[in-house]
Amino acid sequence: MRKDGMTYILALDQGTTSSRAILFDEKARVLGCAQQEFEQIFPKSGWVEHNPAQIWSTQIDCARRVLQQAGVSASEVAGIGITNQRETTVVWNRKTGEPIYNAIVWQDRRTAALCDKLRERGHAAAVADATGLVIDSYFSATKLAWVLNNVPGARAQAERGELAFGTIDTWLIWNLTKGAAHLTDASNASRTMLYNIHTHAWDDELLALFDIPRYVLPSVVDTSGFMAVSSADALGAPIPIAAAAGDQQAATFGQTCFSAGEAKNTYGTGCFMLLNTGHDAVRSHNRLLTTVGWRIAGQTHYMLEGSVFMGGAVVQWLRDGLGLIQSSAEVEALAGSVPSTDGVTLVPAFAGLGAPHWDPYARGTLVGMTRGSTKAHIARAALESIALQTVDLVQAMQRDGAKPLTELRVDGGASNNNLLMQIQADLLGVPVVRPTVTETTALGAAYLAGLAVGVYESQASLLEKWQVDARFEPTMNMDERGALLDRWHRAIERSKGWADA
Ligand code: G3P
Repeated sequence: MRKDGMTYILALDQGTTSSRAILFDEKARVLGCAQQEFEQIFPKSGWVEHNPAQIWSTQIDCARRVLQQAGVSASEVAGIGITNQRETTVVWNRKTGEPIYNAIVWQDRRTAALCDKLRERGHAAAVADATGLVIDSYFSATKLAWVLNNVPGARAQAERGELAFGTIDTWLIWNLTKGAAHLTDASNASRTMLYNIHTHAWDDELLALFDIPRYVLPSVVDTSGFMAVSSADALGAPIPIAAAAGDQQAATFGQTCFSAGEAKNTYGTGCFMLLNTGHDAVRSHNRLLTTVGWRIAGQTHYMLEGSVFMGGAVVQWLRDGLGLIQSSAEVEALAGSVPSTDGVTLVPAFAGLGAPHWDPYARGTLVGMTRGSTKAHIARAALESIALQTVDLVQAMQRDGAKPLTELRVDGGASNNNLLMQIQADLLGVPVVRPTVTETTALGAAYLAGLAVGVYESQASLLEKWQVDARFEPTMNMDERGALLDRWHRAIERSKGWADA
């Protein structure tokens, strides 16, 4: 509960499946949390959309609820920190604030053929040079182009300057300020495939390549710093918006991976491993991404990122798709009831494969079953698949010259699954370390905002807040690990190229 004289930071964490608001005090302790799921819309195979109005309404409801529950008024909140699902693309009318189409979600594969064409025409190297990204439908550029080319009248409206584009941070800031601010931060901008991560500006050649009129784009500002003020109508009093960061970058900040060489892996809807490379934008030769971690006071920290599209969502699929479990928490007992998968291997390429394979046409593949296979083997194979995808990322990072990992810092909902963490340590061959706070995404947004408004003193002062909850030591022998990895890679090959182009 609140204490008089305290100031507070409100983190808005707009994720892929739910909106959350978490209130932190000046010691970075959680005072309250409100969460609301919203609709996932699948209009066609491979398409994933959200209703932008629902994103806003669930997010602002959570913010109001958390303040009310904690008995804190908006005037006591020193700053708002926003963190969000990245790449997801919204286009709206500047005058009315009405979206002209649903949000096209990062998982959406509708622009895969366009990406193929761009690669065939030889644009991959130039795009990677400017953005640090591989050409893939994951990023915003082709989603934005799709909206402009497919929503009747959209392109003409865009040319007349009547439309605004934004990732989810931009959409929330627009609504929080009642259309007064059209902004994004450098970490979110770096996921659009339109932003040059070296010149720190929207890139004219990329705008021409994707045929995007510059006028739809938001201004790019620092990740932490005064951005705008929310309207009094939003939460009852104006509050400075003091940070915005992509959720994976925020989680890296929340894990206090402030220095080059430090890495974290988040087990959310997907799995995202980010390695801080300091002020150097390290170019991957193993199909990882180079991305902006954060920009503070004009100084950019870069990351090497491995993005896996299906992480914790695999467990949801066991629950909702297969009905093998009633609640996600049950997976640990079910998977733990057998000592191994007995050869069953699941490749959860439900939305294609991300790093390091980048195959939008790959699809989910379950192999190795016998008459003796049970739902417990499938559940264990599902957990193993999350950990095996992470091993592929670590190996790619090491081929890119990263120092061998001495331990892996983890966070996100599925990191609370002890069996998964043990499997992860076994398959990586290094200890896995879980901090006391696994809600590092919201924590990172709160840190970024709190530093900007002076509620938190310095990055150094945040380091001591990171504490270990559990450490999982590897116990598997090398031969067993090698055999499992070999079987996994054979299964991966079978999942590739399955869907029609
Ligand atoms: O790049 C997509 C990522 O930002 C989604 O994160 O936590 O919503 O799965 P999450």
